[in-house]
This record gives sequence, C-alpha cells and structure tokens, in this order.
Amino acid sequence: MKLPSRYTPTGRFFGGGQGVVTVWRDTSLDRDVAVKVLSTQGIGGSLRNEAMLLGKIKSKHVVELLDVGIEQASKKEYMIMEYVTGSDLDTYSPKDVRDLYLTLYQIVAGVADIHTAECIHRDLKPTNIKRDDSGIIKIIDFGIGVDGRQVQTASGRGTPGYRGHEFYKTNIILSASTDIYALAVLAYKFCFGGLDAAFYDVPPTSPPSFASATLGQSKERLAAEISSLLDQCLDSNPAIRPSAIKLKRTLAKHISQGVHVANFVHNGKPYSISRSSPSYGISFANCSFEISYDGIDFVLKKVSGDIFVNGIQVGSAMPLFESCVITMGAGSGIDRVFIPFNVSHPEVVL
Ligand SMILES: Nc1ncnc2c1ncn2[C@@H]1O[C@H](COP(=O)(O)OP(=O)(O)O)[C@@H](O)[C@H]1O
Ligand SMILES: [Mg+2]
Repeated sequence: MKLPSRYTPTGRFFGGGQGVVTVWRDTSLDRDVAVKVLSTQGIGGSLRNEAMLLGKIKSKHVVELLDVGIEQASKKEYMIMEYVTGSDLDTYSPKDVRDLYLTLYQIVAGVADIHTAECIHRDLKPTNIKRDDSGIIKIIDFGIGVDGRQVQTASGRGTPGYRGHEFYKTNIILSASTDIYALAVLAYKFCFGGLDAAFYDVPPTSPPSFASATLGQSKERLAAEISSLLDQCLDSNPAIRPSAIKLKRTLAKHISQGVHVANFVHNGKPYSISRSSPSYGISFANCSFEISYDGIDFVLKKVSGDIFVNGIQVGSAMPLFESCVITMGAGSGIDRVFIPFNVSHPEVVL
C-alpha cells in the first residue's frame, strides 16, 4: 500500500473481521496514525459510510477521523484515524465497583455523543473499544454504523450475543436503544467475566440480574440504582431501555459519591447541604420536612403537612430531583413558601 509521502509505514498492524488496520508515521506532524482499508473488496461503501459517521461525531471517547483517500494503484479506499495506543477491553476485569463505574462512564459518554450526532454504532463490544496509554477510552469501528436516529433493515448484521430483541423481528428497526442493549451486554461481560447463555437465545432471554454480580477481591456489589438501570438496558422493548445520557448522569452521581453539594434558599438566605453538614430541617405553619444527604442522593424525609416537589404532593421520603422547587403549604399567596433547590455537579475526573 502506498500513501502520500508524509506517511511512512511502521510495520505494525491489526487484523479485524473486515478491516485491516496498519500503523503509519505522519512525519509532518510527528505522530502515529492508524490507516484502515477493507480486506474484502465489493462490500462497497462501508468504509465511506464509516468515515462519514466518524466525520459527524465529536467526542473525547470516539476515535478521531483525520483523512480519507483512494490509493492510486489499487483504487482501494482508505481512512486515516488518530492512532489509539493501548489495548482493547476484551480481557478487562474491573478491580472494584468504582473501576467499573469509571470505565462504563467513559464508554457511555462516547455513546451519548454518538447518539447526540444522530448516529447508531450498532457493533458495540469489548474488541471495538480501546483504552489508551493515558487511561482514556475510545470507541472504534463504525463499520456497520448507521447515520440516522432509526433504521429499518433486512440485515441482522452485528455480533452474536450483543444483538437485542429487535434483531429477531420480521421487521427489524434499529435505534439508539440497540446500542444501549449492546452496552449492557458488554457491562455484563465485565461484571461476570463472560456472557450468560441467555444472550445467545433466539430471541435473547433474561440473564441473572446485575444485582447478583460481585466484583474484585472484595466481592463488592453494584449500587441497586445502577444494577436495576443496567437490567433495564436489556429489556425486550427498546423503548423501555434508558438513554445513554441517563446512564451517564447516574454513573456520574455514583462516581462522585460523598462530594455533591445542594444549594437552596430559605427565607431569603442561602443554605447548602453536603457531607460536612448533611441534613437540614425546615418548618412553616403546620408543614415541615428534612433534607438529608446519603452520599448519593438528597432525600426529602420526615414529611408532614402539605409539601410539594415541582407541584406534585409528596407524602413520604423521596430522593429530590437535581433541580426542583419545594413548596410548603397548599393555600395561595402568603400561605405558601417556595424553596428553589439545586444540586451542583462535580466534574468526573478521569
Ligand atoms: N484508530 C485505531 N487505533 C488503534 N488501533 C485500531 C484503530 N482502529 C482499529 N484498530 C485496531 O484494529 C482492529 C480492527 O479494526 P476495526 O475497525 O475494529 O475493524 P473490523 O471491522 O475488522 O473489526 C481493532 O480491533 C483494533 O485493535
Ligand atoms: Mg472491530
């Protein structure tokens, strides 16, 4: 293969299913790049499709497209990408729950960016995800990706075990939820060390819940909120599966355990609740409640009288939304007190 003279071959290469990826030195910018060509001629268009998708997506967690071209002699299309160092996640085994959350967070952040760009990856699995030498995770291989929010297809292409229920319908409709299913399958592999036979049933059946996973030497379990969200990602109805954004927010909340701060205003004065002062009680007329921080959520407790959150009456303890208004009193005007409440988001540091 011959590329423009600024590139020199390094001799390193990777063989995939369809693609052959070789590593070249870009002598102008003094960095390595990865060059992908298709090993099989005639599947026409799929490298172009891959390049078009990569060109649309901007993400710290998706490999970056640098250029495309056609080799003079062979007339073969090639695609030049940033070279992602490190290895793929095929043998990754989380050392504890936090390690798993941080890994999933990065993957989910990439998937959220793919979906925001209105693309579907369609082949998420551990061998299509790399962790570079600085620990940053990047999603690669958009070979069978889709440009669009939804696609109706006659083709069941994808990887056995990672295909959701929609692949087994007469009328196959794929969407962002198709990636969410595959994402949970790869999370399952990380948690259990392999895939349950249920994933290979046609259509897939229900594997044991994520709640039964124990991670690392300390046999730690996932938080109930995370395990039930991951179980939901495997629902046979794609519409039930949570979005990548929802997964990202929930993982971020658990990664930031103990460092959230909630701010609210009461009687014109600002207050905050955090780990160092984790609860605050408020009363007005015959209404009262307490907000208390459990390290993950800010929970409304000891509710008495007419208390509303975003206009909906609350009878018992409930976690508060990250941004809401708490109202005390059911009357009108001066018979009511409004308390704007906000949780600050600490940045997830990778
Ligand atoms: N940009 C890249 N940087 C580093 N390695 C890559 C890159 N793209 C692909 N690879 C390696 O090449 C292999 C095959 O590429 P991939 O795009 O997954 O093709 P296939 O469709 O054949 O699976 C990958 O599994 C990965 O190991
Ligand atoms: Mg691949």
